[in-house]
Amino acid sequence: MQRYVIGIDLGTTGVKSVLVDEKGKVIDSCVEGYPLITPKPLWAQQDPESWWQATIKSLKSLVSRINPSSLVGIGLTGQMHGSVFLDQNGNILYPAILWCDQRTARECDEINEKVGKEKIFDITCNPVLTGFQAPKILWLKNNHPEIYKNVKKVLLPKDYIRFRLTGEFATDVSDASGTSLFDVKKRNWSQEILDILEIPLQWLPSPFESVEITATISNEIQNLTGIPAGVPVVAGAGDQAAGAIGTGITKEKLISISLGTSGVVFAFSDKVFVDPKGRLHTFCHAVPGKWHLMGVMLSAGGSFRWFRDVLGTQEIEQARATGKDPYEILVSLAEKAPRGCDGVVFLPYLAGERCPYPDPNAKGVFFGLSLKTTKADLIRAVLEGVSFGLRDSVEIMKEIGLPFGGHCRVSGGGARSRFWTQLLADIIGEKMVRLVSEEGPAYGAALLAGSGTKIFPEIEKTCDMFIEIKDEFIPEKTNYEFYTKIYNIFRSLYSQLEGSFDLIAELF
Ligand code: XUL
Repeated sequence: MQRYVIGIDLGTTGVKSVLVDEKGKVIDSCVEGYPLITPKPLWAQQDPESWWQATIKSLKSLVSRINPSSLVGIGLTGQMHGSVFLDQNGNILYPAILWCDQRTARECDEINEKVGKEKIFDITCNPVLTGFQAPKILWLKNNHPEIYKNVKKVLLPKDYIRFRLTGEFATDVSDASGTSLFDVKKRNWSQEILDILEIPLQWLPSPFESVEITATISNEIQNLTGIPAGVPVVAGAGDQAAGAIGTGITKEKLISISLGTSGVVFAFSDKVFVDPKGRLHTFCHAVPGKWHLMGVMLSAGGSFRWFRDVLGTQEIEQARATGKDPYEILVSLAEKAPRGCDGVVFLPYLAGERCPYPDPNAKGVFFGLSLKTTKADLIRAVLEGVSFGLRDSVEIMKEIGLPFGGHCRVSGGGARSRFWTQLLADIIGEKMVRLVSEEGPAYGAALLAGSGTKIFPEIEKTCDMFIEIKDEFIPEKTNYEFYTKIYNIFRSLYSQLEGSFDLIAELF
């Protein structure tokens, strides 16, 4: 009998589950959406119950495709850094505060003062950042002491789903790395930081390597979804590490770029490799005993979505009438604009920024508008600006001497566009390759489940067996040289505007 695994990716806009067979082939997938709640500027929340309802729906739909007894394992992945606060009965105490929420600047200062910037960097391998989990815990303490006193568990988003599926509290080392509470070198919680911040260790789930089995499906869930009780759930990984498994970033020199809501440049590392200036994150990888470096832009595809929603209403209408995708129509307009957009440069900091500028006050900017500027220029400027932002992380990786293997594996919604992928090659100056499977982190989580339950070999071999290159995009030299001139202007704009971003933030 054919055996199957399921990967569940609890994303920011919805949950995506994939059903994968023993040959690593995706048999079916299902996406269920839920709303993002932004009650104030800089805030981003979600109701964990909405994640759960969407997850059940997606699981039911996949399980109905197979004989349930042929399902051998489940892997979890999802948006990182978020905080789900539970009381002693597992009830949700406050909406989940998400990775892209920027309300915690004060608490980051508090952590730096109490623990010390150097100690935080030394233990967690990263500076504390507004999106990470620890400052969110302090935010709840500072702003809602009446809720805080009832907290008994703090979970990362995907680990809340694990709790609902199995009744167990567990996490994995890659996701735990993004909390500012984790000793990334030792791959365990830092008792020292927890003590200083007065956060009990018992609040946190036990950390596992990504392929390890953490728990099994409960009887109650069997009744709800049809998944047999006892099916193992492996630890899984944060969405970036799982995405990197899905694109085969399991060896030195391999680099990937993911163009989703956020934009991420991800590099494998055999040892703990830290950017001394803290501009990139160093986290544990989903490959047991390995690490990775990554640069995270907060609004990559998110910038393009903003453009579509705010300035692309005409194209949305056109798409509705012709049955096309509005993004396709926008990209075909962008293709008509000249490279460099007649001098328009876009800064993609619509949700503040994380890498290389950890600045919650940073804002989006269209620079260089003139009477000649067209809508096509503006669209192209968004695509170019996001690509320049990704180049920032690649440049830092090269500067700190990370081994680089000569190509980047591109995935995510943006990679569906040939035009944008070529733009990335021309702007970054490296060959971009796309892969046959485009299922992203959910696929990586399924591979981790298969490897952890031993229907697949160890994870590196599994990736070598299943991941295939589809096509490649070679940088055009004269384009690269031209874009390098614009890139230098792009970089200078942030430093010139940094003070003004702070001033405007004080007013609104
Ligand atoms: C990674 C990060 C995002 C979120 C949402 O550090 O913040 O990738 O996980 O996708």
